[in-house]
Amino acid sequence: MGDARPILFFDSGIGGLSVLAPARALLPQAPLVYVADSAGFPYGTRSEAEIAGRVPALLGRLAERHDPRLIVIACNTASTIALAAVRAALDVPIVGTVPAIKPAAAMSATRAIGVLGTDATVRQPYVDDLAARFAADCAVVRHGSARLVELAEAKLRGEATTSADYAAVLDGLLSRPGGDRIDVIVNACTHFPLVAAELAAAAPRPIAFVDGGPGIARRIAQLTNGQSWPQSPAPGIAVFTRLDDRARRLAPALAAHGLDQLVEL
Ligand code: DGL
Repeated sequence: MGDARPILFFDSGIGGLSVLAPARALLPQAPLVYVADSAGFPYGTRSEAEIAGRVPALLGRLAERHDPRLIVIACNTASTIALAAVRAALDVPIVGTVPAIKPAAAMSATRAIGVLGTDATVRQPYVDDLAARFAADCAVVRHGSARLVELAEAKLRGEATTSADYAAVLDGLLSRPGGDRIDVIVNACTHFPLVAAELAAAAPRPIAFVDGGPGIARRIAQLTNGQSWPQSPAPGIAVFTRLDDRARRLAPALAAHGLDQLVEL
């Protein structure tokens, strides 16, 4: 018998699947609990106070219920606002998701990078700090898009989205001052890697897209190194804070990530 405690991934919606997928590839035996705070979605248009009040309390309840060995806040908005408070409140290792500005700056030839996140994320001092530490010689052009969060959710519900939708989002970033020089875009919201192919196809010129998912997966593997796992993990669980019809339409996308059981918190 191995250790059956799961890794718990937390996001406002399905964005955290872009972090869960590379982690699952590295740790196929890991029992998984994926939480979408659908009752609080979207986070990106909320205030700092709302996120800071909601996320630690919710994760406290979830930790009690699921006894995770590790919690991954698979949401840039929640991490850049509430990571320190969650770590202080819970006695479980917490991995956050913050904009991948460091690898983007290392890749950029033009020394101009885009940070595409939610409105709440792109205004955070946490992002100022990452830009100052890792991209001091780059123009760091930021753009918040609630629309792109909706497009990613729609795609995973199986709804049609168009190239023009993605082109309009990119134009919002590329038309900002300095945007014409951008050669790397940080997908600084976990929803956005889920539509990375659509974004790349809609880009007006070749632009590289980077996100934190693969790095976070390696960090999870490092932190759980030496721990035991069940021989055959139980089917993954997807927990919604509101399990309505919209959430149920995500079932095929969740099943494709090993999350076969949908429950309401
Ligand atoms: N997936 C979330 C992030 O990484 C936020 C999406 C939202 O709820 O606005 O920021």
